[in-house]
Amino acid sequence: MRILGIESSCDESAVAVLDDRLGLLSHELFSQVDLHRLYGGVVPELASRDHVQRLLPLVRQALARAGTTLAELDGVAYTAGPGLVGALLTGAALGRSMAFALGVPAVPVHHLEGHLLAPLLEDRVPPFPHLALLVSGGHTMLIEVRGLGDYHLMGETRDDAAGEAFDKSAKLLGLPYPGGPELARLAEQGRPGIFEFPRPMLDRPGYEFSFSGLKTAVMLAVREGEAAGLGADGQRRADIARGVQQAIVESLVGKTARALDDTGLSHLVVAGGVSANRALRDALHSAATARGVAIYFPRFEFCTDNAAMIAVAGLARLKAGGQAQHLAIEARAQWPLMSLRAPGT
Ligand code: KG4
Ligand code: ZN
Repeated sequence: MRILGIESSCDESAVAVLDDRLGLLSHELFSQVDLHRLYGGVVPELASRDHVQRLLPLVRQALARAGTTLAELDGVAYTAGPGLVGALLTGAALGRSMAFALGVPAVPVHHLEGHLLAPLLEDRVPPFPHLALLVSGGHTMLIEVRGLGDYHLMGETRDDAAGEAFDKSAKLLGLPYPGGPELARLAEQGRPGIFEFPRPMLDRPGYEFSFSGLKTAVMLAVREGEAAGLGADGQRRADIARGVQQAIVESLVGKTARALDDTGLSHLVVAGGVSANRALRDALHSAATARGVAIYFPRFEFCTDNAAMIAVAGLARLKAGGQAQHLAIEARAQWPLMSLRAPGT
């Protein structure tokens, strides 16, 4: 079975070809960061227009790199949500139309299920059941993954997502968009322990997170520095970045460790854009190893948005069967992950 995957939920246009025997044959991506940098964040209408221009050339490129033709495709998977509705519609319209023209099934994929299943693209595949820490720009969740579509939410953020906390703190530090990776880079030069920012939910029972207090604390630290004439002090800014990263990483690791201890699960998957963060990967790796838990990350390029993860989730759904075929172009801005069901249930 060979499937084409399309991702267009936010600011990356991406297309991939995946074969169930041969593995990933190609994955192409065009990032719109340069387009949105000027505005300090994603401008939805610009994102949609750019997807329209990029997607078809990416499809051609992905097919050529994979050495395959349209006639060899057994399905087309596209991100149906959640995300920016205009951006989603571009990939959904293309994916559904291609599937119709080729006479193959279209598979509307949940973006977060794509992130969750991204580790399946690697040689070492996590078995079910496992614990997943899903940390992206819009979500922060601890999930017990019992099987495809069988997800039990253990806890999530009450306010900002981890990626959002990175991005907002980066903005306060005057770093360019996209802030998360920029803040992580600056933090490398920062000294640990100089700035201690809040880790709100860590001392409470349960598995919930809260990151909205962090940006207030960072704003105060930045303002204090400016008032003292230290606004341009590079070392101070790096120390703040280090403090922010430490607070986010410790909150995430603390709750993940607790969930591992309480459930006794012995496999941990870490997915979503923030799983590209080196400090987080190292800290989770130590916490998992100390407990004899096996840990799985997607490779760096598949942590952030990409089409390979959409293809792998689409292929899993297609192989499991039970997909009703209709001609609707599915695009849902809001789509709770927990509303998904295992195939055939
Ligand atoms: O999963 P993703 O690509 O898009 C969403 O579905 O949200 O995640 C993007 C998020 C952004 O908030 C971005 O700043 C963050 O992941 N991110 C990082 C790093 N790379 C991406 N945050 C911290 N450190 C990184 N290295
Ligand atoms: Zn994503």
